[in-house]
Amino acid sequence: MRVVASLSLAVLALASLAAAAQTPAAPQVAQTPPMGWNSWNYFFGKVTDKDIRDSADQIVASGMRDAGYIYVNIDDTWEGERDASGVLHSNAKFPDMKALADYVHSKGLKIGIYSSPGPQTCAGYAGSLGHEEQDALLYASWGIDYLKYDLCSYGGVMQKQAPNDRAAQMQMMQAAYEKMDRALKATGRPIVYSFCQYGMDAVWEWAPATGGNLWRTTGDIEPKWDRIYAIASQQAGLEKYAGPGHWNDPDMLEVGNGKLTLAENRTHFSLWAVLAAPLLAGNDLPNMKPEIKAILTNREVIAIDQDALGKQGARAYTEGEVEVWTRHLSGGALAIAVINAGQNRYATHPFHLSLRRLGLAATQTGKDLWTGKTMELTDNMPLELASHDVLLVRVEKPAAAR
Ligand code: GLA
Repeated sequence: MRVVASLSLAVLALASLAAAAQTPAAPQVAQTPPMGWNSWNYFFGKVTDKDIRDSADQIVASGMRDAGYIYVNIDDTWEGERDASGVLHSNAKFPDMKALADYVHSKGLKIGIYSSPGPQTCAGYAGSLGHEEQDALLYASWGIDYLKYDLCSYGGVMQKQAPNDRAAQMQMMQAAYEKMDRALKATGRPIVYSFCQYGMDAVWEWAPATGGNLWRTTGDIEPKWDRIYAIASQQAGLEKYAGPGHWNDPDMLEVGNGKLTLAENRTHFSLWAVLAAPLLAGNDLPNMKPEIKAILTNREVIAIDQDALGKQGARAYTEGEVEVWTRHLSGGALAIAVINAGQNRYATHPFHLSLRRLGLAATQTGKDLWTGKTMELTDNMPLELASHDVLLVRVEKPAAAR
């Protein structure tokens, strides 16, 4: 009996080995959270071919490309009309998509595009409904490397076909995302697939199996502290769903946009790094201030985001207006972020950092990633943080509490 059982096990193992050998390896995209720039948060509907070229130039000139920002993503409002055979053309703002993609590629960058599973995009331009294969092939023919697929008007299609039936609507939504996944895969081109449906139906549970390399977890970000902080808070608990090839997406960066203070920009960037979030800048690159460039190109903070282990950080504890987040890194290192979410500069003074609550021994040596200085952390040490500011420390060899 035992011989027969182990023989059949061996046959099974051989069969699955043979199957694995026949299946072509799936392209390995987004092994770390995608990094790049997207047009929406600054240009919104005004973006043109020239803006994309200028931004690509600046990504190179500013050193952002060399720091890891590779994808230059065109968001909504590039779409024109479909011709008699259903082929979608770009509108007058984008005279030649293939030439634009070639230009972006010539800079050592990759290019992304945007569509919707609905008849219209959120800004009312042509979506991909009924043209999924055709659009995927079109993108591949242009050399597109990344697609953001935004639910938008497909919500209306769902409601019309399955009125008030949330379960049926969810099935339709999943099927729509899966359809585009198949269409993209069928092109044979490695294309990062970004889901944008604002975190509905616990998308983190089903997106990876549906081909999603990243999925928005919330509604839209805005360049305001309250919105950024609210989005960050909503990531707590989602850490187990992220990993190489599939990431929670708390939306694109607002660093350098609106009236965010330097502290707020720093905290936003630090939190996104701890969250293993995609780092898609969304600012006006040709007019980027040096202090904003310094934030976006802080290599040690980027290294937290891009850590090879791909383990998203978590909120360790909250005390009053202060939050402590940690992220486990490769090689046993640990990132600790302490955030003063309070309005009042002195509301939290002094905040005592508890290493014990982090499971750590009473003394640790780390590096403050915003000052670049080595610092000693001791249990219950008092910390003074300005309103909305952050202390981000990397501890290379954390000693556990005994
Ligand atoms: C939605 C998305 C945004 C952006 C716009 C474009 O609101 O969430 O990120 O893509 O659509 O219309």
